[in-house]
Amino acid sequence: MKRAVCPGTFDPVTNGHLDIIERASAIFDEVVVSVALSPDKGSGPLFSIDERVSFIRSATAHLRNVTVRPFDSLLVDLARELEATVIVKGLRAVTDFEREFQMAQLNYRIDAGIETMFIVAIPEYMYLSSSAVKEIAGHAGNVQGLVPDEVNERLIERLRKGR
Ligand code: PNS
Repeated sequence: MKRAVCPGTFDPVTNGHLDIIERASAIFDEVVVSVALSPDKGSGPLFSIDERVSFIRSATAHLRNVTVRPFDSLLVDLARELEATVIVKGLRAVTDFEREFQMAQLNYRIDAGIETMFIVAIPEYMYLSSSAVKEIAGHAGNVQGLVPDEVNERLIERLRKGR
């Protein structure tokens, strides 16, 4: 029984994240998508933890071995608590590499029993990030097809209010 944890801020989840989650769910027996509270990231997340969790739950409802939960601890502690032996992350361009490499090294240093594995993004989503999506939507650009429809609608609503 191999359980993997797939962590992130997911503010909001993109179709790129969902592609990685779906591919991880085909490899592992169970995938626990873990949404970091991340109150200190930049000016704070656009969507609340409950909204971010709920977007992913809806978008992964068809994947029987995927569950979604919030967390506010060290990732390695969460993995231990869940008895997950693998941390799965998506890797896009080289620009992701340094930060991901650092996190993987530190997590390995804390607990060498938990491996980090990367799933490489498909070319279609190589350029896609939550921040780019927020920036485009913030300037009234169209992000349809880059995020689930529900997220697209909520982005328009949220950013319209903020303007
Ligand atoms: O969406 P992101 O920014 O790639 O996610 C980063 C995340 C949530 C995976 C990372 O910040 C994290 O693991 N946070 C939990 C706290 C922790 O364990 N920090 C040490 C990692 S070196």
